[in-house]
This record gives sequence, C-alpha cells and structure tokens, in this order.
Amino acid sequence: MAIDLLIGLQWGDEGKGKNIDQLLSTGNYFGVARFQGGANAGHTLKSGDKTFIGHIVPSGCLRENVELYVGNEVVVDAISLIKEIEELKKLGFDITSRLYISNRAKLVSYLHPFIDQAEECYRSKGGNKIGTTCRGIGPAYSDSRARRILLVGDINFPDFKQKEEELSELHMNFLNMYKDKYNFEIIEDKINEAKVAWQKAIEEVKKLQICDLSFLIQKRLSEGKHILAEGAQGVMLDLDFGDYPNVTSSNVLPANVCLGLGVPHTAIRDIYGVTKTYTTKVGGGDFPSRIKDKEIENLFQQAGNEFGATTGRPRMCGWLDLFALRYAIKLSGVNKLFINKADICPTEEIEVISSYEVDGKTLEEFPLRLNQITRVKTEKMLGWGTSNYGVSDKEKVSPALMKYLNYLKDKLSDLNVKIVSVGTGPDRSHFFDL
Ligand code: GDP
Ligand code: IMO
Ligand code: MG
Repeated sequence: MAIDLLIGLQWGDEGKGKNIDQLLSTGNYFGVARFQGGANAGHTLKSGDKTFIGHIVPSGCLRENVELYVGNEVVVDAISLIKEIEELKKLGFDITSRLYISNRAKLVSYLHPFIDQAEECYRSKGGNKIGTTCRGIGPAYSDSRARRILLVGDINFPDFKQKEEELSELHMNFLNMYKDKYNFEIIEDKINEAKVAWQKAIEEVKKLQICDLSFLIQKRLSEGKHILAEGAQGVMLDLDFGDYPNVTSSNVLPANVCLGLGVPHTAIRDIYGVTKTYTTKVGGGDFPSRIKDKEIENLFQQAGNEFGATTGRPRMCGWLDLFALRYAIKLSGVNKLFINKADICPTEEIEVISSYEVDGKTLEEFPLRLNQITRVKTEKMLGWGTSNYGVSDKEKVSPALMKYLNYLKDKLSDLNVKIVSVGTGPDRSHFFDL
C-alpha cells in the first residue's frame, strides 16, 4: 500500500512513458497517476507494432486492468484527452471504465493556448522567448493561482456556462491587450474553431468518471494496493528549481505528488528517476552540455530520433550532464535510476560534463541562471556504438557499454541511488535489468 513515483531527471523526454509501462509489467501496481503538467507532455509507448503518445492519459493505458488517474494538479486539455481516448479505442483499448479524473483537476480553456502564444509574442520582443509547447500550460496555471480557473468538477454545475463565459471575456481582454501593445495577431476563425472543438470535448468529458480522486487513491492504498505516480517534464524544467524562467509552470519534483494527488508524504515509497545516456532539450534558455559540433549533434538527433512527441520540434542534443544529473538526484531523492538510450552512441568518443565554471571558478552549487556559466568541464571516454540495440540480457551487453555504466555508478556512488534498468530501444521489451 504505497505510492512509487517516477520522474524525469533532465529536460524532459527521458523515456518516462516507456519506463512506466515497463514497471507495470511486474504486475505490482493497481493504477498509474499523473500528478502535474498537462498536454505539454508527450509520453511514447511502443508495444510491437502499436505506438501511442499520451499527453494527458497516464502511461498505463496499454496495460489492461490498470486503473488510470488524472490528479488535481494536472491542467486538463479536454480536446487532447478525448482525442487520446478515441485513439486508444482504435488501438483496441477502451479505457473509459478504468480512467478516473479528479474533480479538482484544472481545465485548460480554449483560449489558454492563444494566451500562451500571445505571451510568447510579448517575450520574443525582449528576446526571451521560452519556446513553450503552446498548449496553454502557463496561462492555465496562472489562472489556477489567481483562483479563477474552471475545475473539471465544475462542468456538472449549473453555473459552469456562466463561469466559462466570464473567464473567456477576461481572456479576450488579455488577448486584445497583447494585440494592441505587442501586435499579437488574433485570428477570429481559429478562436471560433477552437471554441467549437472545446465545447464538443467538454460534452464528452462529462461522460467520464470524475471523482474525488484523493479519496479514491487513499481507498486503494487502504485496500493494500500499490500505485505508480507518473511525472511529466523533468527536474531541469521544474518551476522553482529549473533554469527560471526557462521552465514549465508546475513543480515536477516528487514533493508535488502529495499535493497533486491528495496523499500524505508517508504514502511515498520508491522514487525512480530517468535519464538518457546523453541529454536533450527543446525550447529556449541555455543548454550547457549542448554538443558544439553540429554534425555530431545531428548524429545523435537522427540516431536517437530526437523529435518532440508533442510538437515535433527537433530536440537539441548534448552530452550527459553529470553536474545537472547529480543536482536533480539530490533535489528529488531518487533512489532507483533508469538509464535509457544505451543503444544510441553514434560516435567513437563521447564526453560527459563533470562541472560548470563561472569566470574560472568551478561551481559547487547549481547556478541561478545557466547563462552565467562561462565553461563546462568535460571528461572524454570511448563510445560503445549501437550494437546493444534490443539487448534484454545483461550477459549480452557489450563490454564498452558496461564500462560506461560502471563509470556512472562510480560517479554517483556517494548518492543513495542504484541503477536498476537500462533501455536498449523504444519497445517495451527493449531493456535489461542490472
Ligand atoms: P517521455 O516524455 O519521457 O515519456 O519521453 P518521449 O516519449 O517524449 O521520448 C522518448 C523517446 O525515446 C520515445 O521516442 C521513445 O520511444 C524512445 N525511447 C525510450 N527509451 C529508449 C531507449 O532506450 N532507446 C531508444 N532508441 N529509444 C528509446
Ligand atoms: P515530457 O513529459 C520536453 C518544455 C518546453 C519549454 C518549456 C515550457 O514529454 O518530458 P510549457 O509548454 O510547459 O509552458 O513549456 O518546457 N517542455 C518540455 N520539454 N518534454 C516535456 O514533457 C516538456 N514539457 C514542457 O519545450 O521549453
Ligand atoms: Mg516527451
């Protein structure tokens, strides 16, 4: 009767979806819960010839009988949610009887994505574009903090329409301000289209199981069941501890799971963290470990298929950033580590970032702003090629990859974390346990 938690330790897209699906194969978990973020997330699941990318739906969807929970700190994009449910139906999975949405979850309105774009337009004037996913995440969380967002549970109240209209009026005022002051282009047709699609989706959401999720999860725990909490984004995008303001608008750290699901901290057991053998990032802000040689960066991008699961944007590629990884592990208290993309090493030599420098001084603490960094210190080592694709037996792993894994183990030996599993491909069967 515990909650185990899995979070990303980098800038997102570490392969969290695949690892959640993998953990479910143990049969140890009764349900999977998303506790923060929204449709900015894109979690890829591959099972044989089936591929599914979940944005709101938790990554237990391809496992029959696993309950799926959407917590109160999630900003729910109704259009995306309904689309995902329909897509899953086509794949042969009707999840509606096992999907539960918190009545306290926040509803992304049809105007939030437009405000997101407008705010990007405003920021780009000062050269500070965040490069958001434009899914309305920041504006929805702003409305939540300002105590005016619509909750999923509100849709069944008679005042929903009136509340929605009042909020939309305010949103239109924001958009007109961005239009007048920052030349943001308002395209009426697009807004009307979004409104119709949103209203249609809301009617479908009404048919789903909307409940007091905190009550339900606590009930499951008291029945002796284990729940897996699925993080979105990654520690380096955490609202408070990432490279602010180049972050997302929610806290991705494990501490938020209690607030995001309505459970006490005593319910938390293991904390799984996920990293890749290298680093990727999409969006604005500095990326200290970025591979300087464009050709080498392209090799990683192509070999690793590093294109956004939500926006399709190419992901920037960097060497493994051990300095950032250690910071993320310490902040999150991760005790079990997944390492993905061990099948991807398209260069003979690789580098690992060991520390950051500011004006010749090696940093002990993580800097407030990544753009303060003047140099990164790296260690070079031999690569291990791509021969480990699909390997699922530890005994068949190439010695060069084992050497790299032992190197990491050594570099993390002072932290209370154990490497438990290594990914060797995108399919749910592509991993070996250590
Ligand atoms: P998430 O957001 O953390 O769930 O990750 P994404 O789904 O956005 O991106 C991870 C990508 O890597 C997806 O395309 C996965 O199918 C793929 N993937 C996950 N683990 C591995 C691995 O070990 N090797 C390879 N080659 N691909 C992987
Ligand atoms: P998953 O769960 C990678 C990034 C965006 C942008 C910043 C803010 O798939 O790992 P937002 O739309 O949240 O306001 O954008 O955060 N970002 C992600 N990058 N993976 C994600 O999710 C991300 N979610 C947000 O690119 O830089
Ligand atoms: Mg992703």
